[in-house]
Amino acid sequence: MAKKILVTGGTGYIGSHTTVELQQAGYEVVIIDNLSNSNASVLDGIEGITGRRPVFVEADVTDRAALRKLFEDNPGIEGIIHFAASKAVGESVEKPILYYRNNLNSLMNLLELMPEFGVKGIVFSSSCTVYGEPDTNPIDETAPIKPATSPYGNTKQICEEIIRDYIHAVKGVKSILLRYFNPVGAHPSALIGELPNGVPNNLVPYITQTAAGIRKELTVFGDDYDTPDGSCIRDFIDVVDLAKAHVVAMQRMLCKDTDAVEVFNLGTGRGVSVLELIDTFEKVNGVKVPHRIGPRREGDIEKIWAEPRKANEVLGWKAVVPVAETLANTWRWQQHLDGK
Ligand code: NAD
Ligand code: WQD
Repeated sequence: MAKKILVTGGTGYIGSHTTVELQQAGYEVVIIDNLSNSNASVLDGIEGITGRRPVFVEADVTDRAALRKLFEDNPGIEGIIHFAASKAVGESVEKPILYYRNNLNSLMNLLELMPEFGVKGIVFSSSCTVYGEPDTNPIDETAPIKPATSPYGNTKQICEEIIRDYIHAVKGVKSILLRYFNPVGAHPSALIGELPNGVPNNLVPYITQTAAGIRKELTVFGDDYDTPDGSCIRDFIDVVDLAKAHVVAMQRMLCKDTDAVEVFNLGTGRGVSVLELIDTFEKVNGVKVPHRIGPRREGDIEKIWAEPRKANEVLGWKAVVPVAETLANTWRWQQHLDGK
């Protein structure tokens, strides 16, 4: 019988791509999402790609009673992938309590209900933000965790600690912490991708919206960094590659005799600068991205990219989609949105 997985935040950006990969790998998926940052039409996209519509429960993970009902109505859930969270760094500075409440309470509700309903493990969406500004690159999982620079970043650090403490106390429950670098791109079908919500803060949605004429001009936040072209460097990881890592992590957690808590970096191992990314986008898609150099953005990290060797060797997973292909997919997705 197909294993049943609960995907929290499954109509969101990374959750929807992961649902596709889970279904294609033969898992049965139950999604819980309160649609605070996504749209139920994403389910059509998932069905369009896989031919199957996941079970969808519109509810809030911080609502314990609703979560309990979900487990009662959907018996046999073996694993959880926990994406549901508030994720805007700037907003978290303005509304810290909202971020602590949403991101911590949702995790604690899930953890507490796991043993009661026989759930064996939880894969948690963490972030390279826990490393802060690295002393050296590439950065591996043994690097020190630096003081968080935003309430959002702090929720990821605290959630990792909550998971470690809980798993230490409760036998028979496992977890894999996945630290994502910069997830970008869209499904090659252009049926699912990142849904813009207002003016994007992140680079790639800003690039695509500028290329589409929705935004007049992109501002490159600083060209005076200590990098070859002066702009910041990131490790941009294709969202489908990232989604596939969740499938192998789930397989490992449920089927192998492993440490109760494991942590993996999910990145390509390659640093790409902001200016390089814009240039590649323009070349591969044959469109212009009007941009100008502006001042640095407060709090930005100069350069960070992953040492993904542990994920490569232990999970047997590797990021394979070239950045040019990612940027072509993301542009097709933007055109799909504009055509709606
Ligand atoms: P997203 O906002 O697209 O998806 C999150 C989903 O969770 C949304 O559909 C939202 O409606 C839902 N949600 C939020 N709070 C909820 C709640 N209390 N109950 C039910 N549903 C709720 O974000 P994403 O980019 O797909 O990110 C997924 C996870 O990955 C998040 O935990 C995020 O912090 C983490 N992450 C994202 C990035 C990134 O750059 N996108 C990088 C590192 C880590
Ligand atoms: C990338 C680069 C900007 C917009 C954030 C979170 C992090 C993680 C991923 C979840 C930077 C530059 C951007 C623009 C620009 N999320 N940029 N002009 O800052 O690496 O990470 O998202 O965990 O926690 O902090 O991503 O896409 O915002 O920026 O020049 O209009 O693009 O300065 O160098 P970032 P980003």
